[in-house]
Parts: sequence; structure tokens; C-alpha cells
Amino acid sequence: MLNRRREEDSLRTLSAPSDLADFSSNDYLGLAQLPPAPEVGASGSAGSRLIRGNHQGYPEAEAVVARFHQAESALVYTSGYDANLGLLSSVALRSDVLFYDALSHASIRDGVRLSQARSFSFEHNNIPALEKRYRQVFRQGRPEGCEVYVVSESVFSMEGDLAPVEALLEFCRSYKCRLILDEAHAVGVLGPGGRGLASNLGTEGELFARVVTFGKALGCHGAAVLGGSSLREYLVNFSRSLIYTTALPPGSLAQIGRAYALLESMEGQKRMEALQANIRTMALGIEAAGLQKRFTGGASAVFGFTVGGNRPTRRLAREMAGRGFDIRPILSPTVPTGRECLRICLHSYNTPAEIQEVLRILETRVNQSANEQ
Ligand SMILES: Cc1ncc(COP(=O)(O)O)c(C=O)c1O
Repeated sequence: MLNRRREEDSLRTLSAPSDLADFSSNDYLGLAQLPPAPEVGASGSAGSRLIRGNHQGYPEAEAVVARFHQAESALVYTSGYDANLGLLSSVALRSDVLFYDALSHASIRDGVRLSQARSFSFEHNNIPALEKRYRQVFRQGRPEGCEVYVVSESVFSMEGDLAPVEALLEFCRSYKCRLILDEAHAVGVLGPGGRGLASNLGTEGELFARVVTFGKALGCHGAAVLGGSSLREYLVNFSRSLIYTTALPPGSLAQIGRAYALLESMEGQKRMEALQANIRTMALGIEAAGLQKRFTGGASAVFGFTVGGNRPTRRLAREMAGRGFDIRPILSPTVPTGRECLRICLHSYNTPAEIQEVLRILETRVNQSANEQ
């Protein structure tokens, strides 16, 4: 297996973060660079949430998160991976059906895989394809009591494009399905005050569940499932990645509260505006350079520059590093073969000059390879 990875140039290795210009972290607003919370109490939580670990930091953080995202309840998990795994593997029963976007994050796919429900992917962001799948699956009618779940990210983590949330909701209304939206890369970036894409539409209440994570724009650690209080109670009872793991330490919970407070402050507003300005600079630059066909995204902090092939993608990432930019290659099997890309993440602290230089290098490369053909 490892040899095959080596041959395909897709061997994963761990390396320390570089001090190059950051175009790769998920720290979209620079909040991960804040100093840790002072006077946080004990350094560990000493148990799982159901056994001694559910310290006071939990209800406090969950109240902050639920209020900010206008949800009936929030349930904090140790990570977004755990949240998706624990939610998806437990809510859909053997008699239910799950439909999920084909480009969903690994944590969604793993959660779906662990579920006992039948599951089907649908073509990325394609509602007619979802409808066709639904009709195929229920050719002989939908059995009594069969719940149907539709799962999508609101901002896709590698491509940076947005889900058609309104159309997904419309589909779910028509076909009586429950919509689950992973807002990991939308929080702090999109929607009023950074509340995410569902809040942008004012449709939070219609969703069955949302997953928000704290390790991206909020710059800390952990995640929450947002939804009704009966969903919360269900998860506390049946969600194995919540039940069977050590709870977050008090410091992590305190940090989540601080990050949300900062997001709501003038400072947070300023950082979100700076990020939005950089997103516009990038989108306009892509257009000016005529690179639209090579890029995915355009309205979020993530842009994908399609290269194709593990080796050429790695080579281009190395070249970007040589020129001072930390931009990571996303290789197959993380993305489907042929869609290997550079994942370019923007931040409130990138400068317009840096963004223009990144685009200039990419434009030169595209022109060079066109001339070589
Ligand atoms: C869409 C999406 N969901 C969930 C996760 C997992 O979140 P965490 O890093 O908190 O485990 C990620 C992380 O990359 C993600 O991109």
C-alpha cells in the first residue's frame, strides 16, 4: 500500500508549518494566533462528557454557540470529524436513506459509511441529479416511516464553492427530507456576522442539523451540532464519538467563548471585512487574468486551482513555496483523480500584493504550458 502511494506520488508525510506567506491554513481571521485564555482552571477534563468530563465550560460554550447561530440547541464535540461521524452514524436508522454530495468531506463520508442506513451520493451541487437519485431509490414508493436525509457542506472544503442551500431546502420541502449542512468553512466567513450560509437565508430553523467547527475561522478547536433539543438528547444517548471520548479541557471551551466574543466585536467585524476584501481581490484578479476555467470557488476563503495529476500539482506547490508562498497541493485520493489542485486559502492578514503575485505566477505557468502544447 505504501509503495503504491510512493509510486503514485501521493505519500502523505507530516511537516512543521512554514514561515512562508500563509495561503494554506484554515485560520481565515488570524484568531488561532491569539494568546490562550488565562485562568481556565484544570488542564484536563478527567473523563468523557457522560462521566465527570462535562465541566461548567460546556453549558457556557454551548449557550454562546446556540445563541450566536440562532439554534435551539448546540452540542459540542471534540472535533468536526467527531461531530460528523457521531451525527451521521447515529441519526439515520437501518430503515432510513442518506443522500450526500459526492464531494463531501471525509468526515461526512465516514459518518455515512458507519450509519446503518442505505446511502447514495449525488453529483456535486446538482439538484436534478439528487432528484433523479431519489426517484431511482424510491421507484416503488417510499416505505412508511423511512426518514430521508440530505447532507451537504455549505462551503466545500477543497473547492471553495458554495452549495445551493436554497435549492437543497426546496428539494427537502418537496420530498419531505431532512437537510444536514456542514458549515465548517462558512462560519466567520459568510452570512450575517459570519453566522454561516443557512443564516444568510434566514432558514436555520428549517434545517434538521448544522455542523459548525471551531478549528477554522474561529482559530480554536472542537465543533458543535446545532439543532432541536430532542436531536441533542438523542445524540447524548446514541452518538458514539460524543460518548466514548475524553471531553475537551476547560481551556479549549473558554477559548471557544472568547473566539465568538471576538467575532461579535468591532475587531471581528474588521477582520471579516478584510477577508471579504481579499476574496474580492482574488476573484477580480482571476477574472482579469482569464483564469476562471482553472479555478473553483470565488465567494469563500477557499479557492481551488486545478492542475491535474499528483506530480505536477506537487511540483507547482514546491515552486510556490520557493517563491515565498505556503500553498498546499491537494492530491488524489483526497480529491478524485484528475481534480488534483492547489488549495489556496485567503485570510484577513494576506495583502493584496501577495494575492496579485500568486495570481501572476499561476498565470505565467498557465501561459507557459499552453505555449508548450
Ligand atoms: C467540511 C469539513 N467538515 C468537517 C471537518 C472536520 O473538522 P475538524 O478539523 O474540527 O475535525 C473539516 C476539516 O477539515 C471540514 O473541512
